[in-house]
Amino acid sequence: MKRLVCVYGNHSDLYDRLNDRAKAYAAEKNVDYEWIPVEPFTKKAAIAALKDADAGIIDVQPYDGAIFSQIRDRCKLVIRYGVGFDAVNLADATENGIAVSRTTAANAEAVAEMAFTMIMAAKRQLALNRRVVSSGVWERNVGSEMLGKKVGILGFGNIGRRLAKLFSGWDCRIYAYDPYLSEDQCQAAGAEKADLDTIFRECDAVSVHLPYTKETHHVVNADRLALMKETAVLVCTARGNIVDEEALADALREHRILGAGLDVFAREPLPVDSPLIGLDNLILTPHVSAQTQEALWNMYSKAIDVAAAFFNGEDLGRDLLNPDVKKK
Ligand SMILES: NC(=O)c1ccc[n+]([C@@H]2O[C@H](COP(=O)([O-])OP(=O)(O)OC[C@H]3O[C@@H](n4cnc5c(N)ncnc54)[C@H](O)[C@@H]3O)[C@@H](O)[C@H]2O)c1
Repeated sequence: MKRLVCVYGNHSDLYDRLNDRAKAYAAEKNVDYEWIPVEPFTKKAAIAALKDADAGIIDVQPYDGAIFSQIRDRCKLVIRYGVGFDAVNLADATENGIAVSRTTAANAEAVAEMAFTMIMAAKRQLALNRRVVSSGVWERNVGSEMLGKKVGILGFGNIGRRLAKLFSGWDCRIYAYDPYLSEDQCQAAGAEKADLDTIFRECDAVSVHLPYTKETHHVVNADRLALMKETAVLVCTARGNIVDEEALADALREHRILGAGLDVFAREPLPVDSPLIGLDNLILTPHVSAQTQEALWNMYSKAIDVAAAFFNGEDLGRDLLNPDVKKK
């Protein structure tokens, strides 16, 4: 039986339960599953956990050649528990003959619902209204609705498309920015393909669902924020460095846009001296968009499905992030 080791999670009732369930699910697929949480993360601890595994489920920490070169003798596959793989050095994995995968689409509903919630909350100024009530001031701040408005989605993948579907229930006009998709592909998912400037200039809500790469670094910057309407809101649940945080803090402080919601930050945990802290028109959450009971389990089951398919010699198709590894 092939051995799959999961290093994700921490010792708590929630993760104890999830890992018991994961072990049973893996056994049904003839996979020997073991949970070895690496907390706090160190490369040394990750190596110790993964070197005697045939495959590993890894967390959001940086995984590179320093780890891969030490586990390569036995470990031939690592699966990101999650979707973003910007912290995994794919070239190093390929060099060491290790395939990299992820839990594609397993948290799309959770993240899309979070983006939707943040947009609605920002439009109704919930952070400000909560603060005034808590401070004894009965001041009624007026919001606006999303019915029939324009929503701009940057990155039209699993999460972006799910968000489009949610807003279709509000009769919204959806604009999608995704150079890797054709006009027809966008239309089939209910959106019009649009460029960045059009989206920032025209939309009432802009939601970021891009992967973090060199190309997407600071896509949301001072120039683009300056194009937005005063009544518009910006939400990012993707990765921190896609948004220029200083520029966003300035735009919010000067009320050049109505509000924003951020779940991810350039540095996590968010430093307490960040210019983003203390703004009434900004909703902050600690990278919890995928943290729902449903998504947590979906990610375990998807990771185990991927490992079982790999062990059976099946082609992982688009779930394989470094196809060049096949040449090794
Ligand atoms: N906050 C969280 O907990 C959380 C959870 C899940 C995912 N995420 C982030 O959300 C991102 C999107 O997730 P997903 O499941 O929709 O991924 P996905 O791979 O399904 O979709 C990404 C989309 O972005 C497009 N894209 C790639 N490069 C682009 C570029 N330079 N410009 C424009 N579009 C580009 C792709 O064509 C694809 O359609 C992930 O990369 C991850 O970083 C965050």
